[in-house]
Amino acid sequence: MLGAAEILCHEDSIPDETALEIVDIFHSNYPPSHTEEERSNDFLKRSNVEGIQTILSEGRRYFVARESSGSNLLLPVRGFIEARSVEVDGGVLEQLAWIMVREAYRSTGVATLLHDAFIEDAKQKAAGRVLPTLAQLGVNKDNKDAYSIYKKWGYKYHQESANGESVLLKKDL
Ligand SMILES: CC(C)(COP(=O)(O)OP(=O)(O)OC[C@H]1O[C@@H](n2cnc3c(N)ncnc32)[C@H](O)[C@@H]1OP(=O)(O)O)[C@@H](O)C(=O)NCCC(=O)NCCS
Repeated sequence: MLGAAEILCHEDSIPDETALEIVDIFHSNYPPSHTEEERSNDFLKRSNVEGIQTILSEGRRYFVARESSGSNLLLPVRGFIEARSVEVDGGVLEQLAWIMVREAYRSTGVATLLHDAFIEDAKQKAAGRVLPTLAQLGVNKDNKDAYSIYKKWGYKYHQESANGESVLLKKDL
C-alpha cells in the first residue's frame, strides 16, 4: 500500500537531492513521441543538478510530489511539474512545461495532485494581476495518453505550435 504524497513548490531554490531526482525522473520518463533533436536539447538542460538550478534561476518553478510518510527514503520524489509564467500581448500564460510521474506510481493520482497544485498556484498569481491569465500547455500530437488526461482536466485546443509537431492547449482559471 502506498503512503500519502505531499506537494511542495520550489520557486527560487531546490535541495540538490530533489534536483537529482528530477534529473532521474526526466531521463527515465521522457515521452518517446518527441524527436531526437528535442530529446537532446531537453536532456542537455536537465542533465544534472546545476542544470535544474539554472532553470530555476531563469524563473521557472518545480512542483514536486514526494512521500510524506518517509517510507521510501531512497527515492521520495514520485513526480514533478516544471512551470513558468509568460507575459504575452494582453495577458499572462501560466505554462505547464513538463509533467512526469515515476512509472511505479502511475495511475495513483500523483499527476492529478500535482496539476491541482499548479492550478491553485496559477489562480493565486492571477488574482494579484490586472492582466487576464490562462493556463497553457503543449502536447506532442503522438502523445495520445497525455492528450486524453489533459482533456479530462478541462484543457481545450488553443493553437498549433510553431514547429507543427505539437498543439497548445489552454484552460480558463
Ligand atoms: C502523463 C502522466 C504524467 C500521468 O501521470 P499519472 O500520475 O499516472 O496520472 P493520474 O494517476 O493522476 O491520472 C490522471 C487521469 O488520467 C487517467 N490516466 C492515467 N494514465 C492514463 C493513460 N496512460 N491513458 C489514459 N488515461 C490515463 C487516470 O485514470 C486519471 O483519470 P481519472 O481522474 O478519471 O481517474 C504519466 O503517465 C507520465 O509521467 N507519462 C510519461 C511522461 C509524459 O508523457 N508526460 C506528459 C508530457 S510532458
